[in-house]
Amino acid sequence: MELIVDSVSKKYKGDFYGLRDLSLTIQTGVLGLLGPNGAGKSTLMRILSTIIQPTAGKVSWNGIDITENPNAVRGILGYLPQDFGVYPHLNAVEFLEYLAAIRGLDHRIARKRIDELLYLLNLHEVRKKPLNSLSGGMKQRVGIAQALLNDPKLLIVDEPTVGLDPEERIRFRNLLSELSGDRIVILSTHIVSDIEASATDIAIVNNGRLVVQADQSKILAASVGKVWEWLLPSDTWMEVRKQLVVSSTIQSSEGVRVRVIADIQPSAESHLVTPTLEDAYLYYMSANKQETTS
Ligand SMILES: Nc1ncnc2c1ncn2[C@@H]1O[C@H](COP(=O)(O)OP(=O)(O)OP(=O)(O)O)[C@@H](O)[C@H]1O
Ligand SMILES: [Mg+2]
Repeated sequence: MELIVDSVSKKYKGDFYGLRDLSLTIQTGVLGLLGPNGAGKSTLMRILSTIIQPTAGKVSWNGIDITENPNAVRGILGYLPQDFGVYPHLNAVEFLEYLAAIRGLDHRIARKRIDELLYLLNLHEVRKKPLNSLSGGMKQRVGIAQALLNDPKLLIVDEPTVGLDPEERIRFRNLLSELSGDRIVILSTHIVSDIEASATDIAIVNNGRLVVQADQSKILAASVGKVWEWLLPSDTWMEVRKQLVVSSTIQSSEGVRVRVIADIQPSAESHLVTPTLEDAYLYYMSANKQETTS
């Protein structure tokens, strides 16, 4: 299974590009897509889901150009859009049965599948309640269920964990790992820890361009020797923070414990620490900013 994004650009109004000359090779497993607001993640996912067409470049699924033959992928595709809306007066069962029928799934197979998904997503108890009476996180889980209706070989989920409470977020992570066997899963998020456990590959996007695509260990390795920690008095902290890329701070009675991304030692008291994926993300983003502004 292979999805190839080949020099894809998407031009929106005027001269504005949502994506610019972006290439990716995606194989079986989970690809975590990271990037700030407006980076182009949803634009890319809409193109991969054949909802919109790129202005230039092409996307191929197992050698077939899906920008020209979108039907080659639609039957095996599951997609959760970022702005997923539900039919407010239907309940979860009615809604999922309706979508299954539209997608041409056999009624009996669909009923069984819907029942499984309702259990899998912890929705069984609320399955008969109108969707507009469910909480945000429950609606989001109905959205995840609809993306899984046809047991898709290509699953694209755009910020699926938004609104999920910590317990449901962990359930979702585990579900992703279980699902990732024989399919491609593409997942975008702002919460780096959501993909730390499940993503085989990571792609970072910024300003419509690819910053890096690599497996997690390579991404982490790039920031080894660049993450520093030290404790400094609270009053001096306000001064130094302006010049630093700060990963985290913890206030204590002794002062502020800071974690900083820097190529060279930022202070004589600072010592190197093992990077997390969040540190590595900040490292790539700050290096990318320096590159684009110099
Ligand atoms: N339909 C559209 N028309 C014009 N501009 C658009 C359209 N959709 C997206 N854009 C612009 O393209 C850029 C990329 O948007 P996109 O939604 O792909 O980003 P994103 O990475 O998904 O951001 P977020 O993290 O906020 O969801 C943004 O500047 C956005 O304003
Ligand atoms: Mg988005």
